[in-house]
Amino acid sequence: MTDLKPIDWIPDQPDAMMPGHLRILDQTLLPTETVYNDTIDQQAIWHAIKILQVRGAPAIGVTAAMGVAAAAQEQRAGSIEDVLAAVDQSADYLATSRPTAVNLFWALERMRRVAHASAATSGNELALELVEEAIAVRDEDLAMCRAIGEHGAGLLTEGDTVLTHCNAGGLATSGYGTALAPIYVAQEQGKRVSVYADETRPLLQGARLTAWELMQAGVDVTVICDNMAAQVMKEGRIDIVFVGADRIAANGDAANKIGTYGVALLAKAHNIPFYVLAPTSTIDPGAATGADIPIEERGAEEITEGFGRRTAPEGVQVYAPAFDVTPAPLITGIITEKGVSAP
Ligand code: MRU
Repeated sequence: MTDLKPIDWIPDQPDAMMPGHLRILDQTLLPTETVYNDTIDQQAIWHAIKILQVRGAPAIGVTAAMGVAAAAQEQRAGSIEDVLAAVDQSADYLATSRPTAVNLFWALERMRRVAHASAATSGNELALELVEEAIAVRDEDLAMCRAIGEHGAGLLTEGDTVLTHCNAGGLATSGYGTALAPIYVAQEQGKRVSVYADETRPLLQGARLTAWELMQAGVDVTVICDNMAAQVMKEGRIDIVFVGADRIAANGDAANKIGTYGVALLAKAHNIPFYVLAPTSTIDPGAATGADIPIEERGAEEITEGFGRRTAPEGVQVYAPAFDVTPAPLITGIITEKGVSAP
């Protein structure tokens, strides 16, 4: 597993230029540049989520929790009411950054709940509690990913090849990832497992991020264009599919990066098991089915001139959903930190 942290909290230090703050790895620059941005600014945090400097459902949740903690900390010299007002304002604002990953809303509500239920006797004490809570969100995410990895590794045997889509690895979480966690655990157990990574148009999270982090970890990885998956499956190269999720509905339908639904259909056609791996914080009991999951639409330019070069005519109409929903009947199993279950 790569030990790079996509999101971290740098604690208050005497004489430091900045008080306790977020450190965000700018994933838009990977795989060619490794740049970290330090910030406590709410607009900068919102923007980092919006443009996918930090992305992946669990990492978005951790960033949101730390964003609220940063807002609380800025008011720590004030009253408890001042801190609570900052928490509510931050939670309302960060909730508008991206709509699909339920971990964002889950983390914001957790921070809001903890703040309003706190017995702190000063603004400073409350702000400190909220920093600790945000760090707990991060630490719990890491533990959940590890547990997902252990459950998933049980499905892998020596020599297996996994197909994955997008990036649901260490870069998308506090570490290990979800879909990639079983691969890291299998590697630790001495099992040889290889991976085919879908490139994942339009923002190339598979080619830029999954391939990069697996190579860092010494895992055998092959990048394919998204439209090659059917042929690769037909050639018998894939034993199992592991993908992450941004939101899982109560009936087991799972939203994930656009293209996942197609991969699930292909897996079904080729009789290949298809697993969704996610922490229970990705399950949304408030969404009865996948139809209740809001799907983010992104800017046309990510498709027509992604990474700077125009690849479609100026003015052409574009439809750009960022996620799709895989219906539960196409899912062999959902792997959470609690184990492997039927969708
Ligand atoms: O748009 P992104 O890069 O945030 O999309 C990420 C995904 O779709 C991941 O598969 C999902 O969030 C799970 S990450 C463990």
